[in-house]
Amino acid sequence: MRMADILRKVRAKQESAQQDKDKSKDEKKPVSPQPKKEEEKKAAPPSLSPIVRAYRDDKSEQPKIKSEKTEALKPADGQSRSSKVVKYSYEESLKLYEETLIMLKQLLKEDIDYLSVDINKINMQVEKIVEQMRLGNEHLLYFAFTRGFKEEDYLSYHSLNVCIYSMEIGIGLVYDKYKLHELGLLAVLHDLKMVDHKNLIKQPRKLTKEEFNKIKEHARDGAELVEKMIKGYTKIKISAITQHHERVDGTGYPNGLHGDEIDEYAKIISLIDTFEAGIHPRTYRNAYLASQALQEIINTKDKYEYRLIKILIDRIGMFPVGCIVKLSSKEIAQVIKMNYDRPMTPVVQVLFLSSGRPLKERRIIDLKKSPEVIIKRELNKEDVVKLQDKLLAKDEER
Ligand SMILES: [Fe+2]
Ligand SMILES: [Fe+2]
Repeated sequence: MRMADILRKVRAKQESAQQDKDKSKDEKKPVSPQPKKEEEKKAAPPSLSPIVRAYRDDKSEQPKIKSEKTEALKPADGQSRSSKVVKYSYEESLKLYEETLIMLKQLLKEDIDYLSVDINKINMQVEKIVEQMRLGNEHLLYFAFTRGFKEEDYLSYHSLNVCIYSMEIGIGLVYDKYKLHELGLLAVLHDLKMVDHKNLIKQPRKLTKEEFNKIKEHARDGAELVEKMIKGYTKIKISAITQHHERVDGTGYPNGLHGDEIDEYAKIISLIDTFEAGIHPRTYRNAYLASQALQEIINTKDKYEYRLIKILIDRIGMFPVGCIVKLSSKEIAQVIKMNYDRPMTPVVQVLFLSSGRPLKERRIIDLKKSPEVIIKRELNKEDVVKLQDKLLAKDEER
């Protein structure tokens, strides 16, 4: 199915759901009003740098939506999420992400004595991530999107981001916490032996067949190593690491397995591995927009399970949490939360007025409830950086 057809279907479904909702709502209450223009004019422009710096370095901040601990919303999707438990604040989520990242940076080094690594530490970090993902912690999804734009340590970011996004797919499959934990641990360790090929990966050129064949060994080598590292500690499906480059149409490696010969965890990691790599840059290309990365996956959809692609679209989406978008109101906004039943209309936080002027209070719009505003497009990372430069220059003029 072409991307356009999928989008048309999604939109049609959303529109009919919205029409049904609107019918019953119309008599009861009017559409929520847009903020008054006068109020926007009065807003003093704060410094802009923290917001869009996300794509430049790792010291970025997410708009402070919930700086305090908040209660998780009641789960809409059953057992996979916990109900009514306190979830982490932005700061705590950042700490969790960064602590895990430091661990991975230490692990994904050449010449490390893997067998002396305390796998329990990594396992406990994954457990914390599971807890938070089950509570719908959108901050972790935000980091998975906005982190990983630096060339150095790309492998550590990639491993952690694949872990977070894979869990999101697991939640969509209504996995319990034990399955999420197993999936997360496999995902975070899936590219352990890519370390051996770091120099090859950095080459800004097409690899030779021999070089590519060498790289392919990381799947099997990684699985063997992880098996040794976790021996006697926990039982996980190591085969998912061996198989994370297999494709359901039989075109993957190392064994050219088909369909159900491939473990479900491996199918998830394989899909997310492609998506995560797509939305982040590599030495030989810029990052793709999320829609482009999804299009690439849909173009080769026979390689992945359709139901997993559907969950990827519904839960991570064309406009993932963290991406910067242009609205039909000509405002620039950042996606802060998904609406799983209507992935094209997430919750956004408006960052700038159409004039390019920043807002003092960054207005939040649930696009699902505001049909008068739609997302026109995602801004690419270069656009975001240019926008930042322009706005910072304006700031300095003032
Ligand atoms: Fe890999
Ligand atoms: Fe990977």
